[in-house]
Amino acid sequence: MKFFVRTYGCQMNVADSNEMSRHLKARGLVETQDPDEASVILVNTCTVRQHAEDRAFSEIGRLRRWKAKRAGRKVVVTGCAAERTKEYLQDRFPFLDLIAGAKSIENFGHMADQLLDRRETDEELDYAVPSIDDKVAAFVTIMRGCNYSCTYCIVPYVRGREIYHSTEQILGEVRDRVSEGAREITLLGQTVNSYRHNQYRFGDLLRAVAASEGVDRVRFISPHPYYMTDRVIEVMATVPQVCESLHLPVQSGSNTMLKAMARNYTREQYLARVENMRQAIWGMTLSTDIIVGFPGETEDDFRQTLSLIEQVQFDWGFIFKYSTREGTPAAHLECHPEALIEERHQRCLELVDRIALAKRSKLVGTIHEVLVEQDNFGRTRTNYKVRINGGEAQARQGAGLNGEAQARQGAASSNIAPGEIVRVRITNAQRATLEGELENGNITFENFR
Ligand code: 5AD
Ligand code: SF4
Repeated sequence: MKFFVRTYGCQMNVADSNEMSRHLKARGLVETQDPDEASVILVNTCTVRQHAEDRAFSEIGRLRRWKAKRAGRKVVVTGCAAERTKEYLQDRFPFLDLIAGAKSIENFGHMADQLLDRRETDEELDYAVPSIDDKVAAFVTIMRGCNYSCTYCIVPYVRGREIYHSTEQILGEVRDRVSEGAREITLLGQTVNSYRHNQYRFGDLLRAVAASEGVDRVRFISPHPYYMTDRVIEVMATVPQVCESLHLPVQSGSNTMLKAMARNYTREQYLARVENMRQAIWGMTLSTDIIVGFPGETEDDFRQTLSLIEQVQFDWGFIFKYSTREGTPAAHLECHPEALIEERHQRCLELVDRIALAKRSKLVGTIHEVLVEQDNFGRTRTNYKVRINGGEAQARQGAGLNGEAQARQGAASSNIAPGEIVRVRITNAQRATLEGELENGNITFENFR
């Protein structure tokens, strides 16, 4: 029996989809990339902005015909929109077989049993079959939920309050992922750096994961500026496995807006953290999230956001138009006209893209360690995606010299083996995905880092 998964939204949802897939695989199902082949389709939804929810719902609507085409087909809807709109989904799409909201992820195994009509008891042992998740860069969820209540945000309502996985559980999952081929671990949580468990704080966990056998790289997403403490910065600066790249959502550059959003930091505090990090972590890339058009945002507030972007010089960023989420504290505030939000969105995008291009352009000619993920695509430590040109030919040549690489690569493939860390000289930085060539020279340092 085959299943197909469609995921909307953030990395947390991607990780949740992986976790649910593992539950299904452990019950003997096989994942397919072709919905026509599948007997089960799982749609993992997002509700952070209305647009994300609308897209998922129109896909779910189309699945009525898919389901009718073959007897026994099942449609499962999970995630944040499922949590928010359970009754509505049931009414609008009565053909759904299972609706499992984001809060019930940790219980998905039991739900899968019911869906597939399995008894839990004596079959439990079979479920211990290790599932194969051969991703070079793997995600490990360390906490769920969020204790903040940023006034625009639906997440605390659909994912609940923070719960932390135990350090033992996390290190166990890291070992599992490494044994399946992972070389890079990204720790995940809504405010990932607020993690604590017994005496462990986030910085301690970061160290422990970095010290795990087989882990070449560690990242984490998404940190909250408030918890970006000197201790965490020190770990980033001194533990070699922890990559020098950070996604640190700022949302706005105006103190009035930050206060209205209940973000728990000021512009000045954010800038001070950035300054500390830039001093301590050489060559770090920094990216961010910004919301434009929050209710009450004046032209002056907006310009402060632009000026913060100029000041920080983010390496890249995601700009979102404010979207009212029912039930959040900001929902009753009067919205700006769509045209104004659109105009600010454009201006902000232009600035962020201009800076991003200027920063990338400087990388041409520099040499980076790239962890190859698949098909000659990989990532630098600074988290740029890179396409390695000419990798096919060079991989063949190199394979003759390096038996281990050849073995890992497998005879049929002419690409560089996933999991290899290679040195790449950047040749083109026009697009967000850089291009580069293998650098075989005898260079013992990176001229960028
Ligand atoms: N409207 C627009 N953007 C939002 N985000 C969260 N909630 C909203 C909303 N209601 C953005 C924030 C967050 C990112 C994941 O989504 O920038 O960091
Ligand atoms: Fe939402 Fe704020 Fe929590 Fe992030 S920190 S998930 S923006 S409430």
